[in-house]
Amino acid sequence: MSQIADEIKNQIKRRRTFAIISHPDAGKTTLTEKFLLYGGAINSAGSVKGKATARHAVSDWMEIEKERGISVTSSVLQFGYGGYCINILDTPGHQDFSEDTYRTLMAADSAVMVIDASKGVEAQTRKLFKVCTMRHIPIFTFINKMDREAMDTFELLDDIENELGIATCPVNWPIGSGKEFKGVYDRSTRKVELFSDTHKGTTQGEVRKIAIDDSEINEWVTDAPLAQLKEEIELQDGAGAGFDQELVSKGELSPVFFGSALTNFGVETFLSHFLDMTTSPLPRTSDQGLVDPMEEADFSAFVFKIQANMNKAHRDRIAFMRICSGEFEAGMDVYHIQGGKKVRLSQPQQMMASERKMIDKAWGGDIIGVFDPGIFSIGDTLTTSAKRFAYEGIPTFAPEHFARVRQVDTMKRKQFIKGINQIAQEGAIQIFQEFNTGMEEIIVGVVGVLQFDVLKYRLENEYNVEIRLDNLPYEYIRWIENTDVDLDRLTGTSDMKKVKDLKGRPLLLFVNDWSIRMTVERNEGLILSEFGR
Ligand code: G4P
Repeated sequence: MSQIADEIKNQIKRRRTFAIISHPDAGKTTLTEKFLLYGGAINSAGSVKGKATARHAVSDWMEIEKERGISVTSSVLQFGYGGYCINILDTPGHQDFSEDTYRTLMAADSAVMVIDASKGVEAQTRKLFKVCTMRHIPIFTFINKMDREAMDTFELLDDIENELGIATCPVNWPIGSGKEFKGVYDRSTRKVELFSDTHKGTTQGEVRKIAIDDSEINEWVTDAPLAQLKEEIELQDGAGAGFDQELVSKGELSPVFFGSALTNFGVETFLSHFLDMTTSPLPRTSDQGLVDPMEEADFSAFVFKIQANMNKAHRDRIAFMRICSGEFEAGMDVYHIQGGKKVRLSQPQQMMASERKMIDKAWGGDIIGVFDPGIFSIGDTLTTSAKRFAYEGIPTFAPEHFARVRQVDTMKRKQFIKGINQIAQEGAIQIFQEFNTGMEEIIVGVVGVLQFDVLKYRLENEYNVEIRLDNLPYEYIRWIENTDVDLDRLTGTSDMKKVKDLKGRPLLLFVNDWSIRMTVERNEGLILSEFGR
């Protein structure tokens, strides 16, 4: 094995690649923006967005996002802070996008969970958290909006532990909430950090650090909240779990921080602690064992997202990849494992909001987007290593909603086929056909119903094709694993439907769980799978 140059090792070691997850409105966008403010990537928070467009500040790509006020695609932001090179993956917040979220999390080494202090764990937090735990990555909690009336601190921690089943370890502790939110107490330094006015969060503000036993503290915090703080700290020190880096790394213990993204209180403290506690790029599993970026000198990456027509000004297709090892150089030739040939990675770019920046170099841990002439699929591996290993695949989530799709104007068949195939290749939808019919009868399966709207909208706007969608009653899909099955002789339930996917593999659609069980019972040896491999 060739030696890894120190320069490459150092570049990789200083990388921190993470995703931010939250229930919509908990403050993910605001927190991301404040990270950029502290990283010096923007000068003044709030200046990049008007009030009405606040939540679109950093992740606006598709028109539909603006119309719906939700984030459909995930964006990637890179900036520097304190010697670290940070890659933030913004996960789609809407409940319908768990599949896309899962893929995004595949590219992350850790996750930050933002929780609204007045609401605690919400529906979407729960769902996203579950996806996070599937990856066993470290999860850090930022309890936001402490400038508003918040739930009791202990209650908040209990809520996380009970609802999400993860142990918590507060790294700091809030002093008051709402108008009385003065700052946080750092449990490791035993210092109180008091925040100065940040002019509604537009400036970074100053932090005054005073030891908890120093009498100077009385000048800043009145008796009642100070007494409460001391009591709470004592309780917490006696009862709560201690910090354990190993448990954090395994995703079993979540360090918790308190603050207000809006007023910047506690943001920088969180950022610096988090960057020290989280991990540099982790080894990844391949078909030839773990690939460790500290041992593998050659470039390797996998594709976790493909997006077409991302920006009207650039009509193209971009494959996003997570670099896992080595150094990337613009225009380099790499071996595309699944395609079985060499390809040149051209027009490499990184994203800053909707702006793209061409890059010359990138290292393990980074996320880059490259021009995709239509050859990449989600999960594909690219490498310069002679070992030609393939990273473990990204599973396809089983769709839960199905609809028959027809084009309104039958003259636009070509555009329709092209559009629907391209969108399916991106992984946003899955398409199926009945046996013995052509492409005029297509069944679309999606993980979340909103994807139907996205499909309709994109076909109209990007391909100029109007479609009609008729909902079908199926909720379950199963791939048939047996290679020797005679479909004509397969006996299912009356409400079952036999279809095939794009690769011609047979599948069954069911309306309920019972039908699946009946079908397995009625056909001896039949093996059904939830995942399309
Ligand atoms: P999201 O990305 O998680 O969906 O949340 P986002 O940051 O867009 O924040 C949602 C709303 O919560 C915004 O208010 C934002 O200003 C507000 N917010 C975020 N962090 C804090 C905080 O620490 N304290 C308080 N009090 N509010 C916070 P909005 O009214 O929807 O937008 P805007 O009109 O105020 O910009």
